[in-house]
Amino acid sequence: MLIELPKHSEVFGSVKIHELQKVLKLESNKVIAPLIRGFSREELRDVFSRMAIVVPVKDERLHLLDGVMRSIPEDCTIVVVSNSRREEQDVFKLECDMISNFHKISKQNVAIVHQKDPGLSLAFQEVGYKCILDKNGVVRDGKGEGMVIGVLLAKMLGCDYVGFVDADNYIPCSVNEYVTIYAGVLSLSETPYSMVRLHWRYKPKVMEDRLYFRKWGRVSEITNKYINMLLSINTGFETLIVRTGNAGEHAMTMKLAEIMEFSTGYSIEPYQIIYLLEEFWDGNTRFKDALSSGISIYQVETINPHVHEEKGEGHIKDMLLASLSVIYHSKLANEDLREKIFEELRNHEVVKSKREIRKVTRLPPICDIDVNKFRSVFERYTETFVCLR
Ligand code: GDD
Repeated sequence: MLIELPKHSEVFGSVKIHELQKVLKLESNKVIAPLIRGFSREELRDVFSRMAIVVPVKDERLHLLDGVMRSIPEDCTIVVVSNSRREEQDVFKLECDMISNFHKISKQNVAIVHQKDPGLSLAFQEVGYKCILDKNGVVRDGKGEGMVIGVLLAKMLGCDYVGFVDADNYIPCSVNEYVTIYAGVLSLSETPYSMVRLHWRYKPKVMEDRLYFRKWGRVSEITNKYINMLLSINTGFETLIVRTGNAGEHAMTMKLAEIMEFSTGYSIEPYQIIYLLEEFWDGNTRFKDALSSGISIYQVETINPHVHEEKGEGHIKDMLLASLSVIYHSKLANEDLREKIFEELRNHEVVKSKREIRKVTRLPPICDIDVNKFRSVFERYTETFVCLR
């Protein structure tokens, strides 16, 4: 892969946000030059072999999940965290069968677990990570909850990097590009605490009788605007640096994943940025190593367009509310910004009053979890975990 290097970056406390980089070519030899970097297949394979790709899935079409799995580079470990139906038609069993066949053919390392596995619930209970459990003591529904499980499994499997790709992707080859970007960019980082977030070049839509390659996601445009405003009011300098506020496709070093807070619903991705800014802006953090090493956020524009399952207008409103609520409730926001966010949400008929802009549920960093204890309870009581190596 040949990729532009960021020419410009902005620093907020210990967080460095790099400007958007473009992928120039999907294949390349090793190239080291001031403005571009080419990665050979061998270089990338070395990073892939230390990377887990977490695929959260809930009742997606099986052939979409199948396409995603087949496109993840073979040296990566795949971790599927499924919250699919089990009663009546057992979708989870169909996923397991497909994955087992996939492993037989490809020999790729792959692990799968169901989010409602009693081993997971008991292990979270035992290590005191109860915020992920519902009132019945079972892991809650949610992609964020699935991501936390995925990170824990990746850590248990000894991976140094963890990336996320959704299972509802209609263009399998785009997944191959995403993971290649993750590996290349993370391997370049000058700090062990780094993340890469993807910006889709186009998000095509069917308009009347033809495909229209729309440049921006409607929600991301708005989310980016308000994250940038948050940065501007705190530094006194206007900025447009953030372009990936809602990047569902992203990856990070395990060291960053361990200190990262996740949140629920559509707030996960903007919350990651807000959390890092709040935690590392003024030096008042318990993560002193990250504070001194610095956190790097890379943003990369893909060559492939992104085509995923469309979930309608209600879903757009949910995404807008979740994304803007984390900015609204940030301790870095001021009243003026909160007022603007409220107006934005009201104009989009998402809320009528400020009370409807609720705080999101947060999932604290997994570094506080005793992984050995978690593993021993999980392995003893799991009913669904399969690890094919
Ligand atoms: N394990 C698990 N548990 N996975 C889930 C759950 C759950 O409860 N709910 C959804 N997923 C899976 C889906 O099957 C899919 O693979 C992925 O998580 C994305 O979920 P969606 O809820 O379909 O999200 P989306 O496609 O509307 O939105 C995507 O893009 C947004 C930004 O544009 C997601 O990546 C969002 O997180 C992102 O904010």
